[in-house]
Amino acid sequence: MKKMVINTLACIALLAMSFFLASASDPSPLQDFCVAVNDTKTTVFVNGKVCKDPKVATANDFFFSGLRVPGNTSNKLGSMVTPANVAQIPGLNTLGISLARVDYAPYGLNPPHTHPRATEILTVLEGTLYVGFVTSNPDNRLISKVLYKGDVFVFPEGLIHFQLNVGKTKAVAIAALSSQNPGVITIANAVFGSKPAISADVLTKAFQVDKKVVDYLQSQF
Ligand SMILES: *[C@@H]1O[C@H](CO)[C@@H](O)[C@H](O)[C@H]1NC(C)=O
Ligand SMILES: *[C@@H]1O[C@H](CO)[C@@H](O)[C@H](O)[C@H]1NC(C)=O
Repeated sequence: MKKMVINTLACIALLAMSFFLASASDPSPLQDFCVAVNDTKTTVFVNGKVCKDPKVATANDFFFSGLRVPGNTSNKLGSMVTPANVAQIPGLNTLGISLARVDYAPYGLNPPHTHPRATEILTVLEGTLYVGFVTSNPDNRLISKVLYKGDVFVFPEGLIHFQLNVGKTKAVAIAALSSQNPGVITIANAVFGSKPAISADVLTKAFQVDKKVVDYLQSQF
């Protein structure tokens, strides 16, 4: 009897562990594909999106022409990211991969950000980019490089990274990401532009600056 209880507990622990592992990244597909549909009526949560009947899937479920168009870089940062993930290509559902096109004006910046669910591999199509990422605590080591047309660089999952166009001409890059839904946290926006705002007591201490500086930074978002 005691042995059975222990076995049962071990089974539960194993199941719990495999569930945890399975939900830590995009799941392996259990069928050829699972074209996403919006099903507002369902009350079931799935790790991904609900699938369309495969019989009615079409080529357009796997297609996106949005990366033909350069992003509009007329903004404060001088950059624009055009995503091509499961939100744009429903056929990517459950497949664990996506792309983004990044356009940079001369000296444009894709500011420090992280993808909570994906490693990124970036290819420069045009221009010259200074890129880098920072390792986790306690080292916080900056690993950076200048990339030229055709060069490739990797930003490991979850780490803060950036790209700056250091050339006098526009730049273009294609980022491939190891998730259908990589997510983005832009550091400055999340910390100084959250809604509602993080208390100044938190930010003055965290950044070791006056409240005036925090107010100024918050007013930028
Ligand atoms: C789901 O709904 C949103 C909002 O209505 C829409 O933008 C998106 O294209 C829809 N996605 C699919 C796969 O139908
Ligand atoms: C680009 O964005 C700017 C600022 O929002 C806007 O004024 C301009 O019309 C846009 N250009 C194009 C080609 O959409």
